[in-house]
Order: sequence, then C-alpha cells, then structure tokens
Amino acid sequence: MKIAVLTGGGDCPGLNAVIRAVVRRGEQHGLEVMGVREGWRGLMDPPLHDRLTREATSGILHLGGTILGTSRTNPFKKPGGPEMVIRNLKTLNVGAVVAIGGEDTLGVATKLNQMGVNLIGVPKTIDNDLSGTDLTFGFDTAVQIATEAIDRLHSTAESHNRVIVCEVMGRNAGWIAVHSGIAGGADVILIPERPIEIDKVCEHITRRHRMRDVKFSIVVVAEGAKLGAGEAKVSEKLDEFGHIRLGGIGQQIAEMIEKRTGFETRSTVLGHIQRGGTPTAFDRVLATRFGVHAADMVSRGEWGRMASLRGNAIVSVPLAEATAKLKTVDPEFFSVAEVFFG
Ligand code: F6P
Repeated sequence: MKIAVLTGGGDCPGLNAVIRAVVRRGEQHGLEVMGVREGWRGLMDPPLHDRLTREATSGILHLGGTILGTSRTNPFKKPGGPEMVIRNLKTLNVGAVVAIGGEDTLGVATKLNQMGVNLIGVPKTIDNDLSGTDLTFGFDTAVQIATEAIDRLHSTAESHNRVIVCEVMGRNAGWIAVHSGIAGGADVILIPERPIEIDKVCEHITRRHRMRDVKFSIVVVAEGAKLGAGEAKVSEKLDEFGHIRLGGIGQQIAEMIEKRTGFETRSTVLGHIQRGGTPTAFDRVLATRFGVHAADMVSRGEWGRMASLRGNAIVSVPLAEATAKLKTVDPEFFSVAEVFFG
C-alpha cells in the first residue's frame, strides 16, 4: 500500500524523527511512503508531494523543523476543500494518511476519517495541550530552552536589580510556563488557565523584595495568559483555524508591574526560539517511538486512532478523543509552583 505522511500547524522539534521512523518501519511493512508538502495544503490543488525513502530520510533525526514543510491550511475552510483532498488521495493512489500535528491538524484528520479516509494521527505540539496522550513530542525541548533562558535572565536581573518578565509559548495551556517556571525558580508564573490578578502579582514581588531583602524577581508568563476585561490588548490577525496571533502580554505585564511597584521591570519574549533547532534526546526517542507505532498501526489498519504515550507505554487512542478538548494544567500541579511564589 502507498501511504502519505504530512506535518501540519506550527513546526516542532522531533517532526523529522517521526518522519524518519514512519519511513523505516513502513518499509519493513512493505509500505511505499509519500511525503506531502506543507500540511493539508499539499493535498489540495495542485498536490505537492515527494517519494520518501530510507535514503531520502537519512541524516534528519536530529534536525529541527520539518523536511516536508508545514502550513495552517484548513481544507474545511475552503469551498469543496475536503472533497478535493479525498479526490487527490484517490488520484495519487494513497491508501492511508499519517497526519503529524496538534489539535488543528488532527481535528481535520478526525473529520476526514469520518468522511471515510484511512487516517492515523501522531500528537505534536510544544504546548503539550493535546488530550489522549501524557506528552507530545517537542514539549521537552521547549521546556529545556525556556529553562535555560530563565537561568540567564536570573543572573542579569540580579546584577541590575530588575524584575524580568519572560514570555513563553502556550496558547491555551500553561504547560511550558509551569514546567520551565518550576525548573528555573520563577517567583510568579502566569498561565491561560487562570485570569491574571495584577495586584496579587505585585504583592508577591513587593513582599519578596521587602521580606527577603532581594532586589530582583522573575515572572514567567504564557503568551495566552489573560488580563481582566478592559486591560487586555488583543491582536486582530486570525489564522484559518480562527486563532489570533498572540504575543505582547509580557510587555503589558512588565509596564503594569513597574508602574505599580516602582521596581524597574523589563520583558523578554522567547517566541519561536522555543520551537526551532534540534530536539532533546527525550523528544527524539518519543518521536521515534510514535513514528514506529504509527507505521505499525497502518499495517494493522487501526484507522481513526492516534499514537499516544500512556505512562511509559505507546498505545493508541481514538482521534476523536484526542481532539475533543484541550489538556490544560491541572490545579494540583499548579499548586506545586505556587509554593515558590513571592
Ligand atoms: O501551537 C503551538 C504554538 O507554539 C502556540 O503556542 C503559539 O501560539 C503558536 O504556535 C504560534 O505559532 P505561529 O507563530 O507559527 O503562528
């Protein structure tokens, strides 16, 4: 059988490791693998694709980004889009699709599967907010990068007696903020799951500076954390999945802290640095396990399911379960971080 592999949504360290694993295991199952370019865009008109072989995917394990390219194209937003995808798969003689992506890409996969396409999902996102799996690959790398950045911000904040606000990624869930904040010893962590109470933030910082005789603090804020109504500035740029372009909350918070406490406050946005570059060893292994499992799922015809990490085992779960709702930070875990606030 010929199968198609695609990567959709924001790129993520470990994508190439999954592609390589699908090809290597796929060839052992006698599958021919086609690489679709630029996510779902590559299955619309005109289709964009290449043959993927062991040779073509050699030497990519450690590389960041995706050799296939990616996009946020949503076929369900184009008139006749899903039908176009199905027609192209037929013309290209593709029997199944392995879609590597987050909630949006796998949401499209879920709907196409309901329309009869043989689909397998692989969970990808640095945000780690997909349900149905304990972890997504890419998350560990992002946390590592953010933690290193917080360590560096600590020494400059201390030298200059400053408060530094570090803005990390995390649209709907604060997993990166909480993990890197705990690992980096943040004094306050702000996440999308909890509305920002700016007075409380300033209280924590002021108390810390007075009681402990220190003159610096580190605040970690997830880009999706929200201020109360009337205080928030919102971007008007939307992608095809209806998401606004985030970024800027760190600067807003920094200005508010400086104004209210009188402490000099600066902000740093880590942005796409968290997504670029080589994956950690943990993510390479997880991505490889997902890719091998996805090819095994194809050989067993486990359509409409996603490879998933449960404890230390790779299993499969229904795609619909993985995309039904986002996995947000649970309060018990956040309470561990709160012990260190202020
Ligand atoms: O979905 C992962 C993510 O990293 C989000 O945290 C972030 O909002 C988004 O991608 C930004 O992606 P881009 O800048 O590519 O649109």
